[in-house]
Amino acid sequence: MLLRLTNIRKSFGLSGSRSYREVLRGISFELDSGKSLAILGPSGSGKSTLLNIIGALDIPDEGQIAFGGEAIERFSEKQLASFRNREIGFVFQSHHLLPQCNVIENVLVPTLANNAKKLRAEVKHNALDLIRTVGLWEHRFDFPGTLSGGECQRVAAIRALINRPRLLLADEPTGALDHEHATSIINLLLKLKDEFGTSLIVVTHSRDIASRMDQMYNLTGGELQRLSK
Ligand SMILES: Nc1ncnc2c1ncn2[C@@H]1O[C@H](COP(=O)(O)OP(=O)(O)OP(=O)(O)O)[C@@H](O)[C@H]1O
Ligand SMILES: [Mg+2]
Repeated sequence: MLLRLTNIRKSFGLSGSRSYREVLRGISFELDSGKSLAILGPSGSGKSTLLNIIGALDIPDEGQIAFGGEAIERFSEKQLASFRNREIGFVFQSHHLLPQCNVIENVLVPTLANNAKKLRAEVKHNALDLIRTVGLWEHRFDFPGTLSGGECQRVAAIRALINRPRLLLADEPTGALDHEHATSIINLLLKLKDEFGTSLIVVTHSRDIASRMDQMYNLTGGELQRLSK
């Protein structure tokens, strides 16, 4: 098993105040290595909050997260930073590419923190391989401003995988795309998952996309309900 969440709770605002909201009210699930999981749910139900907690961008008020058998709530700040960088890949609804960097440079961004000189050539080779895999070879020196939304999202997907993370978190990765391009991004994420044995968690509003994952959940009222396909 790669990931186990046990009774995760998260609220925002001061208890008793008008803005107080219990967003996650005891979330538990397990995910095996190389498996995929979809999270559906209405806007504001806490899907991004949950993904941010799994990716250690936010901390829960209560509950445990075990990743590869290790309790991440016991990690120091330094361990957390390294955990995020090495083990987790993020793909967001908008691609967040750096406009002043070309495709190759964008893909290499996550490798800059821990890039020993002798590894640089190898990492660049991997980046070019991935760029070829997603059909962007001709665009490798292009800047995001000159690419389509779908092309930018493909760059974002391989950027998330360049450090070979064990878990890929995708928060509505197809939200800004039409049906055809959305399908091709999901095909790509599933193909990369199979190729690298990465586990995948996808937040989506599309039941069609969700049903292509191994497990499917609905997040409502702060709780996860398992959906059958
Ligand atoms: N940092 C924060 N401070 C205060 N409230 C927050 C914060 N982050 C999220 N919330 C609140 O938590 C609730 C869940 O937000 P979240 O972004 O997780 O929803 P979501 O399911 O991802 O919605 P969407 O489908 O629209 O992206 C919302 O009511 C939101 O206002
Ligand atoms: Mg969200």
